[in-house]
Amino acid sequence: MAFTDFQDFVALLERKGELKRIVLPVDPYLEITEISDRTMKMPDGGPALLFENPIGSRIPLIINAFGSRKRMSMALGVTDFEDIACEIEGLLKPEVPNGLLNAAREFLPKLAVLSKMPPRHDRGSGRCQEVVLTGDDVDLGLLPILHCWPQDGGRYITLPLVFTNDPNTGKRNVGMYRVQVFDKRTTGMHWQMHKVGAEHARLREEKKQNIEVAIVLGGDPALTYAATAPLPPGIDEMLFAGFLRKNPVHLVRAKTVDLEVPEDAEIVIEGTIDLSERRMEGPFGDHTGYYSLADSYPVVHITAITHRRNPIYPCTIVGQPPMEDGWLGKATERLFLPLLRLTLPEVVDMNLPIEGIFHNIAFVSIRKRYPGQAFKVMHALWGLGQAMFTKMIFVFDQDVDVQNTKECLWRLGNNIDPERDTCIVRGPIDVLDHASRTLGFGSKIGFDCTRKLPAEGFAREWPDVIEMSPEVKTRVDSIWDELGI
Ligand SMILES: Cc1cc2nc3c(=O)[nH]c(=O)nc-3n(C[C@H](O)[C@H](O)[C@H](O)COP(=O)(O)O)c2cc1C
Repeated sequence: MAFTDFQDFVALLERKGELKRIVLPVDPYLEITEISDRTMKMPDGGPALLFENPIGSRIPLIINAFGSRKRMSMALGVTDFEDIACEIEGLLKPEVPNGLLNAAREFLPKLAVLSKMPPRHDRGSGRCQEVVLTGDDVDLGLLPILHCWPQDGGRYITLPLVFTNDPNTGKRNVGMYRVQVFDKRTTGMHWQMHKVGAEHARLREEKKQNIEVAIVLGGDPALTYAATAPLPPGIDEMLFAGFLRKNPVHLVRAKTVDLEVPEDAEIVIEGTIDLSERRMEGPFGDHTGYYSLADSYPVVHITAITHRRNPIYPCTIVGQPPMEDGWLGKATERLFLPLLRLTLPEVVDMNLPIEGIFHNIAFVSIRKRYPGQAFKVMHALWGLGQAMFTKMIFVFDQDVDVQNTKECLWRLGNNIDPERDTCIVRGPIDVLDHASRTLGFGSKIGFDCTRKLPAEGFAREWPDVIEMSPEVKTRVDSIWDELGI
């Protein structure tokens, strides 16, 4: 099911009792963070919050809209986002059906799904352009932009979909990169060096060109998720969003830059970056739970702000987990597992614990068939897109429930000989990692927590896990109530 826009999603949240309206005026300077942080730490992520009267702006602010398994699933139009993983698995199935009828049964639904994916290019203006502000009318002060944490370098747009084009191929990229407000018409652009937006900028720099950006807020919530998804460069996030929402994304031309933007967005900030200009961006209270330090980043000069007549301002805060963004990460963990299995068919399951902030810890279970396979899986992960940032990978046997952190800790403590079963490599590290030797470069470690094979030089006997015999369990089940324990 596709939403007509972000406000349609908000209306559903309200109908399902997932939204709390806050009428009391509250300050976007720190206060909204404190309220939202307490809410996000509630069991099941608390409700989404609609601040109707943020101090200093006439535009209502929504936060925590994606902040639970249920709401993340609702955002993607499903009962549970695991359903989409199953759908992707089905689409990727390489089996050739026998017989024409079976072929039709197998492929026609897949074709129907795929035909809904490509975005549509609408003529004229979109709903996101009902109000167009240019020149002196451009003023970011109109928006209720959060100053999230005490030591932050300023106010930040925290849920932006940043649109750019590759100058060589014309292909679009949409990434979520935070945007610091410098003044009413200038912002930072925090695309980290490994991200596609930064690569588009480097390509423009080589051509001595400026780069144009559109910073989009809102639209069908599937678009927001798609901007965070680790799609390979060149795969259009708007195509992926079309697949997720089972309906094409409608795009219109931006007013002052040569880019297309979602017709249904709440707010669009258009601008140009002169790549010879840089400015200190940060610090920012980040999703690591620490402040990311100030560094030099490009500067966006805003050429237009367009918005709907009555927009709402979607945002989030990041900080010590658990936070709303943990659910965007969990959706990625599930949706990308079938794609991971294309390269690594032995992978049974994967858990990126929320406390591991996506890329610090990965628990992976595999069907181990040959010596050294756990090491092969680690190396493959370190070579796979943004999984390259995974600082610690723990590989378990298939019978380990990697969703159960307690079981993982018990197994890993028992099953490793640290010298033999760890593997330390050097390579790219997430820019937000403050412990690595230099920015973006450092070491990562893998732990082989699987049962060791004789072919791996393990000459000893591997003991069984303690378990009660089934007959005794059945007998005790039958007398349990009688025992009155
Ligand atoms: C709330 C949130 C904020 C994010 N902020 C940034 C950021 O400031 N800079 C960045 O490079 N990535 C940030 N990310 C991660 C990227 O959005 C993510 O890596 C995405 O896949 C990048 O897209 P790309 O591969 O098209 O560059 C953020 C993710 C979320 C969920």
